[in-house]
Amino acid sequence: MPDTAAAPIIEMRHISKAFGAVRALSDVDLRLYPGEIMGLVGDNSAGKSTLMKILTGAYHRDSGDVLVNGAATNFKSPHESRGAGIEMIYQDFALCGNMDVGQNIFLGRWPRKGMFVDRGRMYSEADAVLKRLKVDVNSVYQRVESLSGGRQQSVAIARAISFDPRVVILDEPTANLSVMATERLLETMLELKKHNVAQIIISHRLQDIFAVGDRVMVLKRGENVGERHIKATTEHEVLELIVSGKREKASA
Ligand SMILES: Nc1ncnc2c1ncn2[C@@H]1O[C@H](COP(=O)(O)OP(=O)(O)O)[C@@H](O)[C@H]1O
Ligand SMILES: [Mg+2]
Repeated sequence: MPDTAAAPIIEMRHISKAFGAVRALSDVDLRLYPGEIMGLVGDNSAGKSTLMKILTGAYHRDSGDVLVNGAATNFKSPHESRGAGIEMIYQDFALCGNMDVGQNIFLGRWPRKGMFVDRGRMYSEADAVLKRLKVDVNSVYQRVESLSGGRQQSVAIARAISFDPRVVILDEPTANLSVMATERLLETMLELKKHNVAQIIISHRLQDIFAVGDRVMVLKRGENVGERHIKATTEHEVLELIVSGKREKASA
């Protein structure tokens, strides 16, 4: 179990965000603890991706606070949040298909030896990350476009992990995966948890969240309508919150 007696690694308070007339988020609070897996669920357009993009600095909040390890932050880009140990993996993986696995894991920061790319170091370090994750990508020399969706996702996760993050966000990671690939992804998440990496998984598949999650948070039309410990709830109750939840607590 996550150490909820410990201080949260992420705290978002009173987050609001509008896009023109659309109120995407209204006064949303979120806490994430070290080593915890939190499911973030809600119907389409509930504001899940927007909340996570605000956390990484991809979007800018209209109001509210974001604290990392208790310190107020104001990331202006995902590059800045990466520096603070936060990685987000998008549904499209953002990989270069015509490059190989090793090149993708170190995209934009290939190790150098003098004028040249240090290929030996790049591929051995890429291999080490894949082994640490226990994912089933068996060659760092394979072109990414030749891999299945599940293996491409493993590469995207390996790339994220190579930055040694403390927080990993997965936005609908299982939407296009086979049953086997989904199983492997959930195992990878549990492996990261062993390394005390905190994770947020956005998914429509409640069974995945119930398989690996410690907690689940429900957004509905931009409002937080409930949080539950997985052990103390059911898929049925969470579904009810998604469909007809009302904001549970008045914000302080
Ligand atoms: N870049 C954007 N420009 C305009 N509207 C946006 C943008 N991103 C999200 N929205 C709107 O904000 C609301 C929440 O979207 P989103 O966070 O993507 O929801 P979810 O991920 O829960 O499906 C939706 O109404 C969506 O259309
Ligand atoms: Mg989304």
